[in-house]
Amino acid sequence: MKKTIYFLAAAVLALLSGCAAKDDTEKKIDSLVSKMTLHEKVGQMNQLSGGEWLAEAVEKGEVGSILNCTDPAELNRIQRIAVEKSRLGIPLLIARDVIHGFKTIFPIPLGLAATFDPELVEKGARISAIEASASGIRWTFSPMLDIARDPRWGRIAEGSGEDPFLDAIMGAAMVRGYQGDGDSTSIAACIKHFVGYGAAEGGRDYNTTEITERSLRNVYFPAFKAGVDEGAMTLMTSFNANDGIPSTGNKWLIKDILRDEWGFDGLVVTDWNSAGEMIAHGFAKDLKEATGKALDAGVDMDMMSYGYISFIEELVKEKKISEKQIDDAVRRILRLKFKLGLFDNPYIDEQRAGEKLYAPEHLEAAKQSAVESAILLKNDGVLPFKGVNTLLVTGPLADAPYEQLGTWAFDGEESHTVTPLEALKKEFNVIYEPGTEYSRDKGTALVARARSAAARADAAVVFVGEEAILSGEAHSLSDLNLQGAQSELIAAVKQSGKKVVVVVIAGRPLTIGRDLENCNAMLYSFHPGTMGGEAVADLLTGKAVPSGKTPVTFLKDAGQAPFYYNHFNTGRPNNGTETLLDDISLKAGQTSLGCTSYYLDSGYGPLFPFGYGLSYTTFEYSGLTLDKMSYSNGDTIEARVNLSNTGEYDAVEVAQLYVRDLVGSVVRPVKELKGFQRVEMKAGETKEVTFSLPVADLAFWTLNDGYAVEKGDFQLWIAGDSASGEPVSFSID
Ligand code: GLC
Repeated sequence: MKKTIYFLAAAVLALLSGCAAKDDTEKKIDSLVSKMTLHEKVGQMNQLSGGEWLAEAVEKGEVGSILNCTDPAELNRIQRIAVEKSRLGIPLLIARDVIHGFKTIFPIPLGLAATFDPELVEKGARISAIEASASGIRWTFSPMLDIARDPRWGRIAEGSGEDPFLDAIMGAAMVRGYQGDGDSTSIAACIKHFVGYGAAEGGRDYNTTEITERSLRNVYFPAFKAGVDEGAMTLMTSFNANDGIPSTGNKWLIKDILRDEWGFDGLVVTDWNSAGEMIAHGFAKDLKEATGKALDAGVDMDMMSYGYISFIEELVKEKKISEKQIDDAVRRILRLKFKLGLFDNPYIDEQRAGEKLYAPEHLEAAKQSAVESAILLKNDGVLPFKGVNTLLVTGPLADAPYEQLGTWAFDGEESHTVTPLEALKKEFNVIYEPGTEYSRDKGTALVARARSAAARADAAVVFVGEEAILSGEAHSLSDLNLQGAQSELIAAVKQSGKKVVVVVIAGRPLTIGRDLENCNAMLYSFHPGTMGGEAVADLLTGKAVPSGKTPVTFLKDAGQAPFYYNHFNTGRPNNGTETLLDDISLKAGQTSLGCTSYYLDSGYGPLFPFGYGLSYTTFEYSGLTLDKMSYSNGDTIEARVNLSNTGEYDAVEVAQLYVRDLVGSVVRPVKELKGFQRVEMKAGETKEVTFSLPVADLAFWTLNDGYAVEKGDFQLWIAGDSASGEPVSFSID
């Protein structure tokens, strides 16, 4: 009893001291705000890109945050001006896009999503924060939570793919990793881009989006809500105009949903000049009007439009905005700076800044992430290599140390990258041929050399894909096939008669269907980061076994986009009666070829579905059962299945739980991921895998404009991908 009393007393004391600290901070904020001129308040709302060359503006108190300066000495110099020369000494908030690592670069976020391993992703974010904060970065513009259903969009690389559930899990893991437990290694996360940016029409970056409120709430909001609930300290508005309203000026989004409905009280920042871009959108006639619209929507900080610093004082004097609105924004900015401890410790320990960079445990985590992010798409048994001594290594991505880091890896250094060529040289007698100079090189002279070299090897690995520069922001593609002479290279090496393994290093799911036919195995490793070479070598030799699963649908052809597993059924779903062009004799007078939702040339389904990935072993699912046949609101569904490792390798399987709501007040997806777990299995082992699924997780935004679980019939699967397995039925009564 005594222990309980002491414990309770300690808990109450901790709570009170926490509240006291919070009150103390609020008092400090009140005191600061009361001393600030309107110009100084507006200065805090102004974010500029640069370093020392901003010295004059910083000394005048006209800058609250800077981005894109990462030199510790330069950051200390500019910070000293803010703290020791400006009138009120308010420290700068230093920001950077630490998207998948700072110096130790992890796989791109799309690759991290393929791990289906949130613990590992959180660990990677924590390492990124440790490295970045040591160099003075205390705010990252990550995680990017944009749902992406169109691989033509280059920024599909930066998010967690097409599924709201996986996106929410991975985004929350990154928020936890970045922010940590609030010590000096904590960096503020920034959930972005709010909202719907990945639904750009045609997969063309920055393009218009037309997302209904119901789809926003059922598909695009969930990951952001999860990020808010996880305590993300900041949020970034998106470039796109949805339903005719640019997000940066969308008061319903920021004030009604984010602030009022979700209770977010963190800092909202624009994207780069997204306030100013409202002029190009035709939503504001000039920067002054755009500034007023962003402020009125509830945006606290202006990244690089210069609108806030130029026009807020005028707008206040004209009573178009109140100084209270300004004070609320400034409080949120100051609160973040206090939370990060910047007032107490604004400077970097320059002597120690480099200590943690590339630490062995960081590189090991990056390697493990690259191992788990690789997806085995095909294997006729050639992998893992056996009896291979001389190996031909070829292709434009075999030895591209910067390009394998992926997009948004500006601080990564190619000198630290381990390329596949370097790593494979430690395992095999390697013959190296570039094959092509770069991914879009159409020349075939090098192809011929690679083909003849294959004759001298026991097997070949061809590294193809796209360089980092071709991935990411503003890098949309209309043709997703391997470019240049890459497919010719694969075919030429195959003609040598030797076994060929293709490894794709890219920032998106390319349409590699035709290349599958010309290889014995294919490993998709996205852009794997600093340790990608060692990871690939471990997978090819069998030191590691592939476990990655597709976080996005892989298309047969770019013309199928947008395509995603959790689609609606339509009134004419694919029923297998369709006739394809290849099968058509085009006889005169032939009538219909098919009356369902499909393509005459590429048929119905994708190349590979969401959640797909092979292993060196095989898995079988059997005996799926539920604890009940019908449930009520408030219940939890207990599902269990027997999972067997029926092959010869110990391996990990990502078991996935899907649900279908057969009939709703509005149409419902044919499947929705509602759970997954990584199951370690010994060869020959069988395990019972269980999931507990709260009925509440089946809620959605219904016809009646509210979140609810609707009664009716459902199906549930537990399988190794979104297209496999047989369902069991249950009902919600
Ligand atoms: C960019 C991106 C955003 C990034 C910002 C700062 O244009 O859209 O994701 O965080 O600028 O670099």
